[in-house]
Amino acid sequence: MTLAQRWNALLADLRAAGRQRTLELPSGIDLVSNDYLAYGGSRQPRLDPALAGLPRSGLASRLLRGHHPLWEQVEDTLARWHGADSALVFSSGYTANEGLLAAILEPGDWVASDACNHASIIDGLRLARAERFVFRHNDLEHLEDGVRVARRTARAGSQRFIVSESLFSMDGDRAPLTELVSLARRYDAWLILDEAHATGCFGASGSGLVDTADARADVLATIHTGGKALGVAGAYVCGPALLREVLINRCRPFIFTTALPPVVAAWWLAALAQVKDDSAGRASLHSAALLFRQELAQQGIVAGGEDYIVPIVLGGDARASAIANRLQAGGWDVRAIRPPTVPPGTARLRLAIHADHPPEVLRSAAAAVAEAIRECGEEAV
Ligand SMILES: Cc1ncc(COP(=O)(O)O)c(C=O)c1O
Repeated sequence: MTLAQRWNALLADLRAAGRQRTLELPSGIDLVSNDYLAYGGSRQPRLDPALAGLPRSGLASRLLRGHHPLWEQVEDTLARWHGADSALVFSSGYTANEGLLAAILEPGDWVASDACNHASIIDGLRLARAERFVFRHNDLEHLEDGVRVARRTARAGSQRFIVSESLFSMDGDRAPLTELVSLARRYDAWLILDEAHATGCFGASGSGLVDTADARADVLATIHTGGKALGVAGAYVCGPALLREVLINRCRPFIFTTALPPVVAAWWLAALAQVKDDSAGRASLHSAALLFRQELAQQGIVAGGEDYIVPIVLGGDARASAIANRLQAGGWDVRAIRPPTVPPGTARLRLAIHADHPPEVLRSAAAAVAEAIRECGEEAV
């Protein structure tokens, strides 16, 4: 078989399973992006004009000439925002998760990971070579079963870790933070929480669910992205200064990549200045999500989660795609989320509500979603 035949066969299999991906240009009203506070659109933070002319390349790794005073300023600001010892910026949340986990987990360590954790966590754990225990989504009993055995059989010097998202990206529900903290404490495990979808959107200053739960001192590290609510490229890890030093020395996706450009650091400062005082944006976001959920419920549609990520599980891939296509034809940017992003049989619409979605748009969106689901009965696809 030639390489081209192999690839054509692979793509044909995906097509036959209704799982082929294509790149589609944005079109229609945005109910898909993670621009929760609309900082990527109508509520974009203003950049200090004096900073607009900064270099547009990082020029080298942060360990070489890619470091810049603005990154120190960004990381200090981030650490203060979270009340954390330190912050370290990465090119993306994907590389932050992957790099962090691969850098700190050693052979002989044990790590528990929620079954619905993001691909970047899964890939970081694959690289890490620690013993992995995947617990059923948000199932504390299952987690406790695993960690109890791990503690009993632990070798001297080994460490235990628990990794979870705080607000789940595809399910829209929250991790039981208080219970995770207490379980981690009881079993001497380190807690690592991915705040990708919570950053900017919870708490008086928007610093996320961990800080809102007053759990900063109870977690080893949190991972945050800029590309979602903050509307800026990049990501960061918060944690003890010692962890930051370890990452600077051992974390391959931090070391072996060109730094983000200084102009991006200026955008970070603009986003951070805005988000801390943006209680109004957060209030609009949460009330928009509530309204949308109420409208869906009135239409008889059952959605998962409780916040601004609104998944509607539809089952088969073809059905989810047909419903998404129908909505797109009606002017809504809604995409079907299919395996392997979500488990087989749970293809879904994943709608993301934004702070600038007006009530009339949310009402029509809910009606359009309900109509598309009704029109695409199981038999129709
Ligand atoms: C929970 C979670 N963590 C990490 C990431 C990766 O972040 P980024 O998009 O900045 O690479 C995502 C992205 O979708 C995510 O949903």
